[in-house]
Amino acid sequence: MTMTRRSTWRLALLVCATIAGAAGCLYPGADVPYVQTPTDVVTEMLKLAAVRPDDVVYDGRIVIAAARDFGARGVGIEIDPSLVAYSQEQARKAGVADRVTFRADDLFEVNLADATVVALYLSYDMNLRLRPKLFRELRAGSRIVSHDFDMGADLLPNQTIQVTWRDRRSNVFLWVVPPRS
Ligand SMILES: C[S@@+](CC[C@H](N)C(=O)[O-])C[C@H]1O[C@@H](n2cnc3c(N)ncnc32)[C@H](O)[C@@H]1O
Repeated sequence: MTMTRRSTWRLALLVCATIAGAAGCLYPGADVPYVQTPTDVVTEMLKLAAVRPDDVVYDGRIVIAAARDFGARGVGIEIDPSLVAYSQEQARKAGVADRVTFRADDLFEVNLADATVVALYLSYDMNLRLRPKLFRELRAGSRIVSHDFDMGADLLPNQTIQVTWRDRRSNVFLWVVPPRS
Protein backbone atom coordinates (compact mmCIF):
# COMPACT_ATOMS: atom_id res chain seq x y z
CA MET A 1 0.00 0.00 0.00
CA THR A 2 1.26 3.45 -0.86
CA MET A 3 1.27 5.73 2.15
CA THR A 4 0.14 9.21 1.15
CA ARG A 5 1.60 12.35 2.67
CA ARG A 6 -1.73 12.97 4.41
CA SER A 7 -1.84 9.52 6.04
CA THR A 8 1.80 9.83 7.18
CA TRP A 9 0.89 13.09 8.85
CA ARG A 10 -2.11 11.51 10.56
CA LEU A 11 0.08 8.72 11.94
CA ALA A 12 2.63 11.23 13.17
CA LEU A 13 -0.09 13.03 15.11
CA LEU A 14 -0.65 9.86 17.09
CA VAL A 15 2.91 9.82 18.47
CA CYS A 16 2.57 10.54 22.15
CA ALA A 17 5.23 10.73 24.82
CA THR A 18 5.76 11.80 28.40
CA ILE A 19 7.60 14.76 29.81
CA ALA A 20 8.44 14.72 33.51
CA GLY A 21 5.75 12.07 34.04
CA ALA A 22 2.94 13.87 32.18
CA ALA A 23 1.68 12.60 28.81
CA GLY A 24 1.34 14.67 25.67
CA CYS A 25 1.29 14.19 21.90
CA LEU A 26 4.03 15.34 19.54
CA TYR A 27 3.24 17.66 16.65
CA PRO A 28 5.24 16.56 13.56
CA GLY A 29 8.65 18.25 13.76
CA ALA A 30 8.25 19.09 17.46
CA ASP A 31 11.12 18.07 19.72
CA VAL A 32 8.89 17.57 22.78
CA PRO A 33 5.13 17.11 23.30
CA TYR A 34 2.70 19.72 24.56
CA VAL A 35 2.36 19.50 28.33
CA GLN A 36 1.29 22.63 30.20
CA THR A 37 3.34 24.17 32.95
CA PRO A 38 0.94 24.37 35.94
CA THR A 39 -0.30 27.90 36.72
CA ASP A 40 1.46 28.05 40.10
CA VAL A 41 4.76 27.11 38.44
CA VAL A 42 4.25 29.71 35.67
CA THR A 43 3.82 32.43 38.31
CA GLU A 44 6.95 31.36 40.19
CA MET A 45 8.97 31.17 36.95
CA LEU A 46 8.01 34.75 36.09
CA LYS A 47 8.71 35.93 39.65
CA LEU A 48 12.09 34.20 39.65
CA ALA A 49 12.94 35.98 36.39
CA ALA A 50 11.80 39.25 38.08
CA VAL A 51 9.66 40.08 35.02
CA ARG A 52 8.87 43.81 34.74
CA PRO A 53 6.71 45.89 32.36
CA ASP A 54 9.76 46.76 30.22
CA ASP A 55 10.58 43.08 29.58
CA VAL A 56 10.04 41.13 26.38
CA VAL A 57 9.30 37.54 27.36
CA TYR A 58 9.66 34.64 24.92
CA ASP A 59 7.98 31.25 25.40
CA GLY A 60 4.75 29.65 24.15
CA ARG A 61 1.60 30.31 26.20
CA ILE A 62 3.49 31.56 29.32
CA VAL A 63 3.76 34.99 27.67
CA ILE A 64 0.03 35.52 28.36
CA ALA A 65 0.65 35.40 32.14
CA ALA A 66 3.74 37.61 31.69
CA ALA A 67 1.58 40.28 30.03
CA ARG A 68 -1.52 39.89 32.23
CA ASP A 69 0.15 39.60 35.65
CA PHE A 70 3.48 41.39 35.17
CA GLY A 71 2.68 43.98 32.46
CA ALA A 72 5.40 42.68 30.10
CA ARG A 73 5.26 42.24 26.35
CA GLY A 74 5.58 38.73 24.98
CA VAL A 75 6.45 36.71 21.92
CA GLY A 76 5.12 33.17 21.81
CA ILE A 77 7.06 30.75 19.61
CA GLU A 78 5.31 27.43 19.10
CA ILE A 79 5.82 24.89 16.33
CA ASP A 80 2.20 23.64 16.39
CA PRO A 81 -0.07 26.13 14.53
CA SER A 82 -3.17 24.91 16.39
CA LEU A 83 -1.54 25.85 19.70
CA VAL A 84 -0.63 29.25 18.24
CA ALA A 85 -4.30 29.81 17.34
CA TYR A 86 -5.36 28.63 20.81
CA SER A 87 -2.88 30.99 22.51
CA GLN A 88 -4.06 33.92 20.37
CA GLU A 89 -7.62 33.23 21.49
CA GLN A 90 -6.55 32.94 25.14
CA ALA A 91 -4.62 36.23 24.85
CA ARG A 92 -7.74 37.96 23.50
CA LYS A 93 -9.80 36.56 26.39
CA ALA A 94 -7.16 37.71 28.90
CA GLY A 95 -7.22 41.22 27.37
CA VAL A 96 -3.52 41.20 26.45
CA ALA A 97 -3.70 40.62 22.67
CA ASP A 98 -2.12 44.06 22.12
CA ARG A 99 0.98 43.12 24.11
CA VAL A 100 1.68 39.58 22.90
CA THR A 101 2.29 38.06 19.49
CA PHE A 102 2.46 34.38 18.57
CA ARG A 103 4.32 32.73 15.72
CA ALA A 104 4.20 29.18 14.41
CA ASP A 105 7.93 28.63 14.12
CA ASP A 106 10.82 26.44 15.17
CA LEU A 107 12.53 27.84 18.25
CA PHE A 108 15.91 26.91 16.79
CA GLU A 109 15.23 29.09 13.71
CA VAL A 110 14.04 32.21 15.55
CA ASN A 111 16.39 35.07 16.43
CA LEU A 112 16.07 35.62 20.18
CA ALA A 113 17.98 38.91 20.36
CA ASP A 114 14.84 40.93 21.30
CA ALA A 115 14.09 38.79 24.33
CA THR A 116 15.00 39.95 27.82
CA VAL A 117 13.44 36.86 29.42
CA VAL A 118 13.13 33.36 27.91
CA ALA A 119 10.90 30.82 29.67
CA LEU A 120 11.42 27.15 28.81
CA TYR A 121 9.59 23.90 29.47
CA LEU A 122 11.21 21.59 26.96
CA SER A 123 13.55 18.71 27.83
CA TYR A 124 17.09 18.27 29.09
CA ASP A 125 18.36 17.39 25.59
CA MET A 126 16.58 20.34 23.99
CA ASN A 127 17.97 22.71 26.64
CA LEU A 128 21.48 21.45 25.89
CA ARG A 129 21.00 22.02 22.16
CA LEU A 130 19.44 25.46 22.73
CA ARG A 131 22.05 26.61 25.24
CA PRO A 132 24.71 27.94 22.79
CA LYS A 133 22.05 29.87 20.85
CA LEU A 134 20.60 31.40 24.03
CA PHE A 135 23.97 32.59 25.33
CA ARG A 136 25.05 33.84 21.87
CA GLU A 137 21.91 35.81 21.00
CA LEU A 138 20.59 37.13 24.33
CA ARG A 139 21.97 40.38 25.71
CA ALA A 140 23.86 40.49 29.00
CA GLY A 141 21.46 40.64 31.93
CA SER A 142 18.72 38.69 30.11
CA ARG A 143 17.20 35.94 32.21
CA ILE A 144 16.43 32.35 31.25
CA VAL A 145 14.05 30.32 33.41
CA SER A 146 13.45 26.63 32.86
CA HIS A 147 10.79 24.39 34.36
CA ASP A 148 12.12 21.00 35.47
CA PHE A 149 15.19 20.81 33.18
CA ASP A 150 18.62 22.30 33.77
CA MET A 151 21.33 22.95 31.15
CA GLY A 152 24.00 20.51 32.24
CA ALA A 153 26.33 20.19 35.22
CA ASP A 154 28.85 22.56 33.65
CA LEU A 155 26.40 25.49 33.56
CA LEU A 156 25.18 25.94 37.10
CA PRO A 157 22.04 28.08 37.46
CA ASN A 158 22.25 31.40 39.30
CA GLN A 159 19.28 30.22 41.36
CA THR A 160 17.10 27.13 41.75
CA ILE A 161 13.73 27.04 43.48
CA GLN A 162 11.23 24.30 44.14
CA VAL A 163 7.52 24.85 43.57
CA THR A 164 4.93 22.55 45.11
CA TRP A 165 1.68 22.09 43.21
CA ARG A 166 -0.97 19.46 43.95
CA ASP A 167 1.04 16.42 45.07
CA ARG A 168 4.11 17.25 42.96
CA ARG A 169 7.20 19.38 43.24
CA SER A 170 8.88 21.10 40.27
CA ASN A 171 12.35 22.58 40.05
CA VAL A 172 12.68 25.96 38.39
CA PHE A 173 16.14 27.12 37.29
CA LEU A 174 17.33 30.68 36.59
CA TRP A 175 20.38 31.74 34.56
CA VAL A 176 21.36 35.36 34.02
CA VAL A 177 23.27 35.93 30.77
CA PRO A 178 26.72 37.29 31.69
CA PRO A 179 28.51 40.12 29.83
CA ARG A 180 30.51 38.89 26.83
CA SER A 181 34.18 38.52 27.70
C1 LIG B 1 6.22 20.87 27.34
S1 LIG B 1 5.34 21.94 26.23
C2 LIG B 1 5.41 23.48 27.10
C3 LIG B 1 4.28 24.39 26.71
C4 LIG B 1 4.32 25.77 27.40
N1 LIG B 1 5.58 26.45 27.13
C5 LIG B 1 4.15 25.61 28.88
O1 LIG B 1 5.16 25.65 29.59
O2 LIG B 1 3.02 25.43 29.32
C6 LIG B 1 6.57 22.16 24.94
C7 LIG B 1 6.03 22.87 23.71
O3 LIG B 1 7.12 23.11 22.83
C8 LIG B 1 6.66 22.91 21.50
N2 LIG B 1 7.84 22.62 20.69
C9 LIG B 1 8.51 21.46 20.62
N3 LIG B 1 9.58 21.58 19.81
C10 LIG B 1 9.58 22.86 19.36
C11 LIG B 1 10.43 23.60 18.50
N4 LIG B 1 11.50 23.06 17.93
N5 LIG B 1 10.13 24.89 18.26
C12 LIG B 1 9.03 25.48 18.83
N6 LIG B 1 8.19 24.83 19.66
C13 LIG B 1 8.46 23.53 19.93
C14 LIG B 1 5.67 21.76 21.61
O4 LIG B 1 4.77 21.74 20.52
C15 LIG B 1 5.00 22.06 22.94
O5 LIG B 1 3.83 22.83 22.79
